[in-house]
Amino acid sequence: MHTQQVLKGQKALVTGANSGIGAAIAKGLAAAGAEVAINYVANPHATDRLIDEIESAGGKAIGIKADVSKEDQVQAMFREMLDAFGTIDILVNNAGLQRDAPVHEMSLEDWNFVLAVNLTGQFLCSREAIKEFLRREVPRDCSCSAGKIICVSSVHDRIPWAGHANYAASKGGVMLLMMTMAQELARYKIRVNSISPGAIKTPINKAAWETPDKEAELLELIPYGRVGKVEDIANAAVWLASDASDYITGATIYVDGGMTLYPGFREGG
Ligand code: BGC
Repeated sequence: MHTQQVLKGQKALVTGANSGIGAAIAKGLAAAGAEVAINYVANPHATDRLIDEIESAGGKAIGIKADVSKEDQVQAMFREMLDAFGTIDILVNNAGLQRDAPVHEMSLEDWNFVLAVNLTGQFLCSREAIKEFLRREVPRDCSCSAGKIICVSSVHDRIPWAGHANYAASKGGVMLLMMTMAQELARYKIRVNSISPGAIKTPINKAAWETPDKEAELLELIPYGRVGKVEDIANAAVWLASDASDYITGATIYVDGGMTLYPGFREGG
C-alpha cells in the first residue's frame, strides 16, 4: 500500500489492465490516489473484479473495452475516458502479447499481430493522450508535468530472444518510439519513459516458472535470485508517474533482478 497519495487528483489509463502486470499497475496507481481507467480486450469479469477490488480499497476505477491496435477503438476509448474523468494525466502503455515461433516458421499473421498490439498500440494510445496533454497543459493543482507516458517494454528491447523475433522486434521498436516521443515532447513538459520488466510471474510466461525445475532454470538468468512479482513493476510505475521523477524523461528502467547484466559471465569469461 502506498500510504502517501502521490497521484491524488490525477487520471490514469492503463492498457491491458485486467491481468498480470497491467492489473498490478492499475492497483498501484489507484492506491497512490489516481482515478484509473482499466482498458481490456477480453474477460470483462476479471475487469469487474479488479474494479471492485480497487473500489473496496477506497479507489476509483472504470473499465473500457478496446483493442489498442485498432485506431477507431482507441479513439473511442479516449472519448470514453475523457467523458468519464475530464482529462488524462498518466498513460501506461501496457497491453502486449507473444506469438512465438522460430523465425523461419513464423507466419506473417503472427508477425503482424504482435507488432500491431505491442508497437502500433503504443503509438495509437500515446497519440491520443498527447493531444489531450497539449490541449490541457500543466494542471498546476496536481502535477508539475503536462502529462506522463509510461511504456511497458521488456528486457527484450535489449536482449535478443531466439524464437521470439516478432516480440523482440516490437519491444526494440517501443524503445525508440519512447525515446523519440520523449525528445519531441519534453519542451511541452510531457515526460515519456519505459519500464522494461524481466521475468515477472504472470500468465504470459507461466511455462517458464510453473514447475520447480523450470523455475530453477529461469533463476540461472536472474542474478538477484528470485522471479519478479507484478508489484515490482507497479512500484516503479507509481514512481515514474509521480512528480518524484520529474526530471526523468527518455529513460528505460530495467526492473529485472539483473537479467540484463549478462549473468552468463558471472563465472569467468
Ligand atoms: C516476456 C516473458 C519473459 C521475460 C524474460 C518478457 O518480456 O514476456 O515471457 O519471461 O521477458 O525473458
